[in-house]
Amino acid sequence: MKKGEKTACLILGAGKGTRMRSSLPKVLHRIQGKTMIEHVLELVAPFGFIPTVVVTGYKGAEVAKAAKGVKIIRQKKLLGSGHAVISAKAAFAPLKGDLLVMCGDTPLVRRDTLRRLLKEHRSNGAACTLVTAKLKDPAGYGRILRDENDDIEGILEETDILAGNSATDEINVGAYCFDIVHLFEALKSVKINKKKKEYYLTDVIDLLRKRGLKIESVCTQDEKEALGVNSRKDLSSAEEVMRERALKRSMDNGVTVVDPRNTYIDKSCEIGRDTVIMPFTMIEGDVKIGRDCTVGPFARLRSGTRLDDGAEIGNFVEVTRSRIGSGTKIKHHSYIGDAFVGKNANIGAGTITANYDGKKKNRTVIKDGAFIGSGTIFVAPVTVGRKAVTGAGSVLTKNTKVPDSSVVLGVPARILKEDR
Ligand code: UD1
Ligand code: CA
Repeated sequence: MKKGEKTACLILGAGKGTRMRSSLPKVLHRIQGKTMIEHVLELVAPFGFIPTVVVTGYKGAEVAKAAKGVKIIRQKKLLGSGHAVISAKAAFAPLKGDLLVMCGDTPLVRRDTLRRLLKEHRSNGAACTLVTAKLKDPAGYGRILRDENDDIEGILEETDILAGNSATDEINVGAYCFDIVHLFEALKSVKINKKKKEYYLTDVIDLLRKRGLKIESVCTQDEKEALGVNSRKDLSSAEEVMRERALKRSMDNGVTVVDPRNTYIDKSCEIGRDTVIMPFTMIEGDVKIGRDCTVGPFARLRSGTRLDDGAEIGNFVEVTRSRIGSGTKIKHHSYIGDAFVGKNANIGAGTITANYDGKKKNRTVIKDGAFIGSGTIFVAPVTVGRKAVTGAGSVLTKNTKVPDSSVVLGVPARILKEDR
């Protein structure tokens, strides 16, 4: 690649995913609540590839909706990964520079590996550099063929391995960096695979090599990174790997996870040091937790939750789209949604924000130092002033504004004391 030339990116997401046995296109299956195509786009986003293109096919309009902010190309007939790349050619005109091609069903590839791939490719002068992995069980993947000098000769797909042939354990992960001109030249010569009736992208490797061009590789030591999601079993394995990574990252950052086997943390969660996560806790989506908090056991923090330093969330508490101030305690059986809770408040057992009125979500504001009696129900929108108190079992009806330092009680709640 010449200096100053941009690298483009192509993600293959047209396949139906027959082995998933689903009416949903494969790349729309979710891991940690997010579609596979979104995970792959998130992975490549920081590289700033121009353009980034997704090839869609099966239920393409649905995939296009999930693949926001990128160019979409339609593969009209699903004739294989090689055909998918050919379909996208016009998106890269005029052809120059490099193209990163990735499968849309390999969401566990690490950003560091892509970084290594690009670095290697930019310095080695190869027509293609690809990511490989050595697997204990390489079944199902394309195998890397090397000659006596250890140079890559081609990729042999599972369908073409002859019975009894002990192929290698080095596999094609499905992430490649190509010189774009050589790639599209070689694709013209790819023939349809007679068994699968598909044009294989991987056949390009042998063709490039026969033209005297170099093929290089970077090998990942992390077997799990190579997982291609083709079945429901693979989907659950991918979920597990992502969870393990998120747990490890939190623990590396100084978070105590008492029982990692029974704790679910999404990769998008940020948790501060010395926070303790008790068993059977789920932390999903975009959640930020400060330092010295305790969460769980049996807590569920959903997307949009913010816990400031020292907040405590106990058992059977669900929090969503809410900010919980520092030192505030919500220890038992509560649902807090669309709320802002200030500092050092105490939310009694069984407190509920009735945030949904059947049409829209409404906010509950509970200011600093408020003391919420057990079983209080906030029919939002509701505001509770600083250091105000609600009696046990109170129902604060819509648009109630409890003045600072007052005490309210009853159904519907009325002021008992103006200034406690
Ligand atoms: C592919 C590779 C294999 C590699 C493995 C890694 C080929 C021929 N084989 O095999 O070497 O080890 O990935 O996981 O590429 N797709 C399209 N249009 C099509 C067909 C497929 O866009 O017509 C997309 C799919 O959505 C998928 C990707 O290409 O994201 C790979 O297709 P898939 O059928 O899953 O290939 P594998 O058999 O897994
Ligand atoms: Ca696959």
